[in-house]
Amino acid sequence: MAIYEEINKIKSFAFEEISKTTDLARLEGLRIKYLGRKGELTQVLRSLEKYSGKERKAVGALANESRVGLENEIGKRQKYLEEAEFAKILEQERVDVTASLEKIPLGHLHLTTSAIRQIVDIFKALGFYRVRYPEIDTDWYAFESLNMPKSHPARDEWETFFIDSANSNIVLTPHTTNGQVHEMEKGQLPIRMINIARCYRRQSDISHAPMFHQFDGLLIDKSASIGDLKGTLEYFVKQFFGPKRKVRLRPFHFRFTEPSFETDISCDICGGTGRLKNGQICRLCKEGWLELGGAGMVHPNVLRAGKVDPKKYSGFAFGWGVERVIMMKEGLNIPDIRILYENDLRFLEQF
Ligand code: DAH
Repeated sequence: MAIYEEINKIKSFAFEEISKTTDLARLEGLRIKYLGRKGELTQVLRSLEKYSGKERKAVGALANESRVGLENEIGKRQKYLEEAEFAKILEQERVDVTASLEKIPLGHLHLTTSAIRQIVDIFKALGFYRVRYPEIDTDWYAFESLNMPKSHPARDEWETFFIDSANSNIVLTPHTTNGQVHEMEKGQLPIRMINIARCYRRQSDISHAPMFHQFDGLLIDKSASIGDLKGTLEYFVKQFFGPKRKVRLRPFHFRFTEPSFETDISCDICGGTGRLKNGQICRLCKEGWLELGGAGMVHPNVLRAGKVDPKKYSGFAFGWGVERVIMMKEGLNIPDIRILYENDLRFLEQF
């Protein structure tokens, strides 16, 4: 009788221990303790030889049944513990994708860069494509081909940096008009180019910097007119400055255009009247208009320099400063052009 009790005792003891185990290594220890080669239940099975006949069969059956029961119980517990462990790992390694992180400061484009992109986009809509030409160029492209022969007094206005010496043939481009004859030399007509690049002049005050940007537009076709020029400039002004701004062409003189114009836009402070609401004279423009930049119909000598026949083709052109148009934008109160290049974050972060 005692053997049956012993088996049942081992079994219930084992079941209890198994159900209390909380880690897999301990569970393996229990398996060895009860079912291993020297395990408690194994010992009982070994002692079967002491019995005979019916009793041996009955004890054997109980012991076997207990072994299978224990194995099952250990298997179940093992599965349970493995799942719990996996769940614990999942929980520990969980990444909360919605958690807010410390804010990483993000930069943005410089005011000049975004203005250049905007200018390119506006002219793209009219079929103009952006080109680039060297910022160190020969005297020919910067002056001579633009109807300004050597020693012509008009050159003085461009306050040019020469490479090496004053007699040198190589200059830092004082304007982006140097791109016009380069473009004509490609030999592909019609032309609708917008050349945007850095320019260099010996100058520095609140409205001039020694390095600045210009965009120079050139259209050459069979019948380009002053009306086309005005329409193009007006389109740009309305897109860039807003629909209320007006454009005025004022007669002027450039060697590379005939006729030539200065382009003015109506002042946004006084609405183009020159007077503030209280009757005082507008301090920004004084007379209702602000000067933007040059424009005109391409001079036949310039067309000839680019091997374009002035009898068959005509063209218009314009050249404005990028910084200048930024400074005249509504709401931007930039007191000194040079501030655009100081890279002072207190200024740049305001945009
Ligand atoms: N290059 C001139 C300047 O720097 C501006 C200019 C005037 C450009 C008339 C042009 C033009 O293309 O047609 O002052």
